Amino acid sequence: MEKPKQLAVEAPRAVLFDAYGTLFDVYSVGLLAEQLFPGQGQALSVLWRDKQIEYTRLVSVSNHGAHYQPFWELTRAALVYAIKKIVPTAQSDWLGGGFEAQAERLMNQYRHLSAFPENKAVLQALKERGIVTGILSNGDPELLGISVRSAGLEGLLDHVISVHGIRKYKTAPEAYALGEQATGLAAGHIAFVSSNSWDALAATWYGYQTLWVNRYQLPFEELGTQPTRTGSSLRDVLGFFP
Ligand code: LAC
Repeated sequence: MEKPKQLAVEAPRAVLFDAYGTLFDVYSVGLLAEQLFPGQGQALSVLWRDKQIEYTRLVSVSNHGAHYQPFWELTRAALVYAIKKIVPTAQSDWLGGGFEAQAERLMNQYRHLSAFPENKAVLQALKERGIVTGILSNGDPELLGISVRSAGLEGLLDHVISVHGIRKYKTAPEAYALGEQATGLAAGHIAFVSSNSWDALAATWYGYQTLWVNRYQLPFEELGTQPTRTGSSLRDVLGFFP
């Protein structure tokens, strides 16, 4: 019997990266969290991140976006929630503005998240191949600007796209559409890269070619769709361009 012909998938012409968790290490705040809350730094940074994502969904889905707040504000609200949950005595321990001051120290750390070490070389390799590069993120433009500058990535990104202008967070389709609008390419000609499995899944549903960077050996989402590719570091994006 004749073998079915394999459909050739064209190599993408642009690569868009998620920012937080993918280019910038959201758990790099754990060290300061551990200093402030000994024994609970890791739990705090994990809950902080999960709550932040939950809040983006809550404000995107509820009441036609009437409760939208910028990513920075949701990040602060998520931090306050996480501290209150993990260290219920924190507010009474730190009276007289101490609670706000400690929260502010952690927020400040969030402005300066570590960038993953392979970022620069991978972006450079993409530029050498003539590939359009960018970020497509829930982060607000100011926060993204600070993160990109402090990681020294400015010259290596053609687009830094924030959902802030449309007041809807990923995984809203309008948010993924911004990548097509900015590059002038259809999603099928763009590779979207995320370390967040939910983001890689929704981008695949939207129509992007996707790479899930599974940095923490996690299972993928169990919703019946797989990303185009799975890797363990950003370097695996080069697999789209043999
Ligand atoms: C972002 C978050 C979701 O950068 O990681 O979009």
